[in-house]
Amino acid sequence: METALKIDLLTLFPGMATGYLEESMIGRAIKHGLLSIDVHDIRKWAKGRHRETDDRPFGGGAGMVMKPEPLFAAIESVKREASTVIYLAPDGEKLTQPLAQELSREKHLVFLSGHYEGIDQRVRDCLVDREVSIGDYVLTNGTIAACVVIDALARYIPGVLGEEKSLTQDSFTASLLTFPQFTRPAEFRGMQVPEVLLSGNHAEIEAWRLAQRKENTQIRRPDIISKDPNHESNH
Ligand code: ADE
Repeated sequence: METALKIDLLTLFPGMATGYLEESMIGRAIKHGLLSIDVHDIRKWAKGRHRETDDRPFGGGAGMVMKPEPLFAAIESVKREASTVIYLAPDGEKLTQPLAQELSREKHLVFLSGHYEGIDQRVRDCLVDREVSIGDYVLTNGTIAACVVIDALARYIPGVLGEEKSLTQDSFTASLLTFPQFTRPAEFRGMQVPEVLLSGNHAEIEAWRLAQRKENTQIRRPDIISKDPNHESNH
């Protein structure tokens, strides 16, 4: 089936990704044909008796580096003309909500998960279009990072969330964090749900939620307000 977005994920640990991608909203989206994801074991493209994918770094130093041959073969076998190849690395561009949205509009994404101390620079120079980091910390490999990017972008694919409205009240949309949520019972262990939410007055509820979003953002993440040139408080 031809889906709006096709994803190929290249990793040395396919099981880490398949378990995750089969579950919950992403698993449901794949079943419903909203996106398709193929997870490939890079070792499939490694040659020789031991199918080595890594080697010692030229110049010495700690750890091992992923060899160029299997990575070139893997990427070249899944890449098409309109593909964007994304390498997950801590020195990449930081994943943000706008970046997730931008990537959701692509037709074909190839995610390359690295391991060891990194990958041969020639792969990055020749075949990688974008490099993405999920935060300022170092993981043992990029597979979970790829799943994080896929999860964040999949929410923007029409039909994935069920209710598209959820996107507009997300944290980081309009440079604001989200508001507090409550469900039944209205009183639990003596704690009451804010009265306004029980009022049925939608205008008042919206006003309360917006005020909560602003206060929440001011207290927890004033940095996201000050960084946004379009934010009302920066004019
Ligand atoms: N691989 C290792 N650490 C990573 C990070 N922070 N983001 C993306 N890929 C990674």
